[in-house]
Amino acid sequence: MAKIDFSKMAEAMPSGVVVIDRELRVFYMNPFAGKLLGHLSGSKPELKELPADLFYNTDNQIFDMTTCMQQMITSGKRLFHKTLVLNIGFGERMVFMSASSFEQRGKRLFLLVISDISDEMDCIVNTQGVYGRKSFFLSKKIIGDHEKIRNIHRMITLAAESNVNVMVCGESGTGKELVAEAIHELSDRNKKPLIKVNCSALSETLLESELFGHVKGAFTGAIKDKPGKFEEAQGGTIFLDEIGEVSPAIQVKLLRVIQEKTIERVGENRPRLIDMRIIAATNKDLRKLISNNSFREDLFYRLNVFSIIMPSLRERSLDIPILADHFIRQLVHSTGKQVKGLSREALRVMMDHDWPGNVREMQNALEHAFVLVQGNTIEVEDLPASITKPASLESVSDKTQMIADANESPPPQKTRGGRLKISKQELIEVLETHGWNQTKTAETLGISRVALWKKMKKFDL
Ligand SMILES: Nc1ncnc2c1ncn2[C@@H]1O[C@H](COP(=O)(O)OP(=O)(O)OP(=O)(O)O)[C@@H](O)[C@H]1O
Ligand SMILES: [Mg+2]
Repeated sequence: MAKIDFSKMAEAMPSGVVVIDRELRVFYMNPFAGKLLGHLSGSKPELKELPADLFYNTDNQIFDMTTCMQQMITSGKRLFHKTLVLNIGFGERMVFMSASSFEQRGKRLFLLVISDISDEMDCIVNTQGVYGRKSFFLSKKIIGDHEKIRNIHRMITLAAESNVNVMVCGESGTGKELVAEAIHELSDRNKKPLIKVNCSALSETLLESELFGHVKGAFTGAIKDKPGKFEEAQGGTIFLDEIGEVSPAIQVKLLRVIQEKTIERVGENRPRLIDMRIIAATNKDLRKLISNNSFREDLFYRLNVFSIIMPSLRERSLDIPILADHFIRQLVHSTGKQVKGLSREALRVMMDHDWPGNVREMQNALEHAFVLVQGNTIEVEDLPASITKPASLESVSDKTQMIADANESPPPQKTRGGRLKISKQELIEVLETHGWNQTKTAETLGISRVALWKKMKKFDL
């Protein structure tokens, strides 16, 4: 038999082949694996180290590769088979992985063989009458069992299959950006970029040049030609966040982009053809803005071809336990604290809270609880005061008070209605104490992050 060149054979393998050591350092990766994992490092398929949280179990628990390698060494077992989810954002793939170990020059190495079984899974899931892999991944990313969330999943799938502009509305922290990411990732545009622009973060002139780009000399400081975000999104999707904040002049320009599918860089008269889908988001009532003439009706209809309205967390409070479970699992992984869940009373407090900051507020509350929690159960006193005692700060929980004392911030005062009375200077001081960390500042002040954000906005911070 002719001698076979094994490296050529590995390169031709229709499965991913990766060789790593027990610290997950990569020694070899064939092109198939490079392609499969390539998303992780942009255009570079080579990875120096496999991320420890590269895989999920199909029941959404992070699959700990390091422990698995250890077990292979101690048990002497050479092989394991697992159906896993390769965690590369929404582009997740379902894979089948097997592994064995071998020794090379006294060093134990591990050979992973990773086969992409996503298409097969589509067939299996479809024959079972479920909506397919897309809906499987959606249900893992946008958590919720409430009919309103299931409906959001359906809308995302439909939006992803079409090419029309989408408007996502909803209160702060309801997952609007998550929806935009999902639509992009599940659409045919997913190999091209998703470009995000926060329209409220920049002044009118800066936003114009950010979106449309400029040519050298267009204005002071324009030292070279620069493509705008629309050009960067070529072939892909542009996410225009906080669209309600856009000035009338830019609204006219956006309308032209949508109608003519061309853009002109600032300072240039040459139209450039662009192909992208716009997903816009807002927490404002755009119809109200239209009625008081701050938002153009024609632009609204151009953007609102397909609209998705995110439910607040209050409207779907029955989802609170599974959302809590989801975030607790993530936090167990990132902090290493072995927390099992919430006490019955803590869960009740969470169910009773009205969550003005929605899912983001809840995520922050659990992050806060993870800092304070002592045993393996989160108790009421581990939750932020803004949730346990929203109306009064006089009686913040002892632990929160301790944090405030330790940081030597002035005790914040709340009015009878529960509103925080604080001057701009005082707020700056508390923010400084926490290195401008908004979560910590909000905790110290005993207000939600949204309330803090509103205060900061009011003071132009
Ligand atoms: N249904 C959900 N399942 C899991 N995580 C969620 C869900 N909804 C929101 N989140 C998480 O909550 C946080 C806020 O979500 P996101 O940024 O998408 O909200 P938003 O509506 O864009 O908020 P804002 O209006 O303040 O920009 C993110 O960390 C996101 O991952
Ligand atoms: Mg957002």
